Amino acid sequence: VLPGVAAGPLAGRHVIVTSGPTHEPIDPVRYIANRSSGAQGTAVAAGLRDLGARVTFVTGPATVPPPPGVQVVRVETAAEMRAAVERALPADAAVMAAAVADWRVTSASDRKIKKDGSGRPPALEMAENPDILAWISRAEARPPLVVGFAAETDDVLANATTKRLRKGCDWIVANDVSPATGVMGGTENSVILVTDRGAEPWPQLPKDEVGRRLAARIADHLGHEAG
Ligand code: CTP
Ligand code: CA
Repeated sequence: VLPGVAAGPLAGRHVIVTSGPTHEPIDPVRYIANRSSGAQGTAVAAGLRDLGARVTFVTGPATVPPPPGVQVVRVETAAEMRAAVERALPADAAVMAAAVADWRVTSASDRKIKKDGSGRPPALEMAENPDILAWISRAEARPPLVVGFAAETDDVLANATTKRLRKGCDWIVANDVSPATGVMGGTENSVILVTDRGAEPWPQLPKDEVGRRLAARIADHLGHEAG
């Protein structure tokens, strides 16, 4: 094998992975964020790369570094993430592992908001962000395989099953992010893979191993589709 020429079951395939949180600015020094570290999305991207895929890794401001050997596109907001995903199309598969902020601040100020002396906090006006997973699942250039994640604290399976249908994606990797699991910011993940064939609970595994397994499943699926 020549250096730089990918080999493996995903050689010649392009996969888009979103990862990390998004930051939604309030003013130049403040933003709304969430506790995503980007660890799971990073592990999925590394798993896909190891199987030979060309990976476009669209990442918000994560705490873990992006994996080597993928094309990194850094974004901050949900709107920027959506635009970057659109630019990266077409793809053979898309894995939306980012913890996209559900809302953005529409009253964001381009100057630092100051206390006005009244003792009253500023009222932030917010709007719902574009749903990147739902959009790509119905896009004209929809990748043949679209995988979403579902971070839930209650009724994990029921919520993930509903979410899969509502979003129009093929698979949902449902993860229990209840504080007691330590998943948010932790090194392990407890997931259920929900497909059109039902729900497949995986044992609690290191996030790297979840990434490897998911990449292997994607390779398996795309291999069958081509053959
Ligand atoms: N997602 C997305 N764009 C958004 C919100 C979510 O692409 N604006 C994707 C996530 O990357 C994930 C999936 O949708 O793959 C599910 O995210 P989740 O937050 O669990 O679902 P929501 O539809 O936002 O529902 P809620 O947070 O209310 O449970
Ligand atoms: Ca959400």
